[in-house]
Amino acid sequence: MNDNYLKVARLAAAAGAKILLSYQGRFSVREKAPRDLVTEADVAAQQAIQKILLSNFPDHGFVGEEEGHDQVSAEMLADPNHPPIWIVDPLDGTVNYVHQLQSFAVSIAMYHAGELQVGIVHDPVTREIFWAQRGGGAFLNDIPIRCSTTDRLEQALLACSFSAGTQHDSSELSRFAAALDEAQSVRRLGSAALNLCYVASGRLDGYWATCVKPWDVAAGALIVSEAQGEILSLSGEKFDTWDPRFVATATKSLNDQLRRCLA
Ligand code: IPD
Ligand code: CA
Ligand code: CA
Repeated sequence: MNDNYLKVARLAAAAGAKILLSYQGRFSVREKAPRDLVTEADVAAQQAIQKILLSNFPDHGFVGEEEGHDQVSAEMLADPNHPPIWIVDPLDGTVNYVHQLQSFAVSIAMYHAGELQVGIVHDPVTREIFWAQRGGGAFLNDIPIRCSTTDRLEQALLACSFSAGTQHDSSELSRFAAALDEAQSVRRLGSAALNLCYVASGRLDGYWATCVKPWDVAAGALIVSEAQGEILSLSGEKFDTWDPRFVATATKSLNDQLRRCLA
């Protein structure tokens, strides 16, 4: 693996994080869809990140939450010779950001040859940078991190994500209620990327989501795997970056219990 990928990704994440901080208190907000917010900061951060990544790697693909990204086809993903694809959320946790709550981050991942290769989640407020390279372990700033050893659902602190505008009769809420019945407690913190990093660093024991997009979770998914965690689809198959409905947990046994609980 080319170490330069990680270096450039870290630079791009830092540039995005700086922009998010610089826009605080002076951005306009609009709704992309009901209750789904985007600010000038999201767009400016994505532009800066995209520019850094593609000026260093002009032949790479780029998928970002905001406008101006490549469409990913099944053919591209099946082609082992396709250049790497960067998957970017310039601001994960926009609702928190708009309300001046903590828990938002820049998320950057790189996907190549059928696997996530690099993941960075940069929290500009706490200055925590979670990162991983495939096969190289997971880190918080420069300290190695590992998931907790929790293997019983009744002792587990969990988090989950709902999509913007989740309705009271949604299956998301039934899953939430089922987890509340069986886990120690359940949080909804507002940043999918950070939730995964908190599983990777032992602050949370598990996290699940069925409504998120690749850019929300690609980086965090690699960071959990590299921190010795377990991340599987709801039915127990391999995590799919491009169809991310999954359960991420500190241990295998906890994953089995949580998937059973949510089924
Ligand atoms: C959102 C956050 C949130 C999750 C939503 C995502 P955004 O991303 O990750 O935790 O519940 O589904 O859309 O819109 O803030 O980038
Ligand atoms: Ca997001
Ligand atoms: Ca976003």
